Amino acid sequence: MPEIFIDNVRYEFEGKPLVLQFMLDNGMDHPFFCYHPSLSVPANCRQCYVEAGTPVWNRETNDYELDEKGERVIRFFPKLMTACSLEASDGMVIKTQRTSELVKRAHKDTLEFILVNHPLDCPICDQAGECPLQIQTYKYGPEGSRFEHKKVHKPKRIKLGPRVILDAERCINCTRCVRFTEEISKTHQLTIISRGDKNYPAVAPGTEFDDPYSLNTVDICPVGALTSADFRFKARVWEMNQTPGVDVTNGTGCNIDVWTRDNLVLRITPRFNAEVNDHWMPDFGREDIRRMNENRISKPEMTIEGDRIKSSWQNAELTLWEKLKAFKAEEILFVGSAFSSVEDNFVLQKHAARLDIKNVYFSPFIKVGSGDGFLIDDDQYPNTQGCRLLGLEELSGPALKDKVTASSVKLIVMLEDDIVGRGIVSASDLDGKFVVYMGSNNNETSKAASLVVPIANSVEQSCSYVNVKGRIQRTTAAKETIYTNRKLDLEMSVGRLDRYGTKFDNWVSDRNRIDCIPAWEFLERVAAQDKANFGYTSTRAIMTEIASVNEHFSGVDYNRMDEEPGIQLISDEKVKTA
Ligand code: SF4
Ligand code: FES
Repeated sequence: MPEIFIDNVRYEFEGKPLVLQFMLDNGMDHPFFCYHPSLSVPANCRQCYVEAGTPVWNRETNDYELDEKGERVIRFFPKLMTACSLEASDGMVIKTQRTSELVKRAHKDTLEFILVNHPLDCPICDQAGECPLQIQTYKYGPEGSRFEHKKVHKPKRIKLGPRVILDAERCINCTRCVRFTEEISKTHQLTIISRGDKNYPAVAPGTEFDDPYSLNTVDICPVGALTSADFRFKARVWEMNQTPGVDVTNGTGCNIDVWTRDNLVLRITPRFNAEVNDHWMPDFGREDIRRMNENRISKPEMTIEGDRIKSSWQNAELTLWEKLKAFKAEEILFVGSAFSSVEDNFVLQKHAARLDIKNVYFSPFIKVGSGDGFLIDDDQYPNTQGCRLLGLEELSGPALKDKVTASSVKLIVMLEDDIVGRGIVSASDLDGKFVVYMGSNNNETSKAASLVVPIANSVEQSCSYVNVKGRIQRTTAAKETIYTNRKLDLEMSVGRLDRYGTKFDNWVSDRNRIDCIPAWEFLERVAAQDKANFGYTSTRAIMTEIASVNEHFSGVDYNRMDEEPGIQLISDEKVKTA
């Protein structure tokens, strides 16, 4: 196997790795700015310099040339090389800042040069705490500045588009953002204008940066030049909790990190998954923070003689139980939801089976033509495949309407799916029926329901979804409800503020905790009225049961979902027909 020597340590490699990527993959620390593993390599920041040499080949002996000590003669390149663009070759020798004074000096000098006009506004810059320029200056930079002149001031607070704001003077012209629009989103909306110390990224005159993936440029901008209009000045990274999750705004199931502070979701960023979304996600998936925080249903509600009143949990459980007893099985309709998790749909199914209810359906929400063939899919819900694999009977919108409006149906129990808002039925179609709506947000269906049960959403519990390609992935609780506690749940991330904040600190409060429980738990409590016991203590346990009774989910468990980048449940071929 070919070998490479980095700082006198021998490594073997396969293929033709780039030296910088190889060093990063092997856990070595090395400074860089413009390189990004999913973009082309312009090698323009010069921060990743190394000394590189190759062994001299003796044509006569047809072997490496050796010196008097019997060691290979290495011929170093006359100048420093950029590790990001240098392909590893057999016998190559690399010296980094750890073994070369020249490289150490180069890193210092490059940083000094980059910082000449960079405003040192770390105290107010959104990128502070995540900024490689800040980190690398600390690790590799000069101790002071020799620059005594006024810095070049470039434009500040330029609204490039509806979601992205540019502080041009922070830009180090790495061109990552430009390359992103050229190579990934392919909108070609950004370019670098002007020259030398005046240049910065811009859009063409009269246009705006409204790329549906524009916020990815904020993620990959190594400094705080590109910022999110939504998140700017909201919080510092060290104050927030970072929790892995799944984007539920469409069928792709992009992997995300959910960032919370004081139990509010403040930002969503993509999490790398080579099988699903690489490093990217669409902007509208990030706007889901509004649904997670706002317009929430908190505490059960009932409509009594036309008035909407808050109810207790006990009352809600008893009411549903009594209704399930009062009507015959054929008068009851259960509506599952491709917006809800695999676990919730499974428990709904199980509840129906327990009561011998045969009317259990779901209706996918697919807007043909709204997908873009990249990360935005026609399927508007995250778990259509999951409902199919569970064996829920699938109905088109009109077919579901027929079921809902049938005069024989007296009780409808539905999981989170705004069928009124989606136009499948009108509110008046539900008149005269007892409608139980289990949902997390107020919407047209909740308004028309007789009993509204507030349920935990995808960031308030661990639960799983099967994406359009048949891959199951799971979320982890990022927000507390009033019944969950970050410090008692080992899976929940505990940030600095949670660890050290006291109740007298103004950033720690009991606000923003919703009075809701997961739908499966509510259904279990209703079953318990009959002395039936599903025996679930967590969604992890529900998934174990699903895996044991449904062959599609065989071998699936939460640990595997965490260790692998999700689990492919069915082949691509089957996905098309599933
Ligand atoms: S705005 Fe950021 S990503 Fe774009 S060129 Fe400047 S530093 Fe690089
Ligand atoms: S990372 Fe290599 S030159 Fe920028």
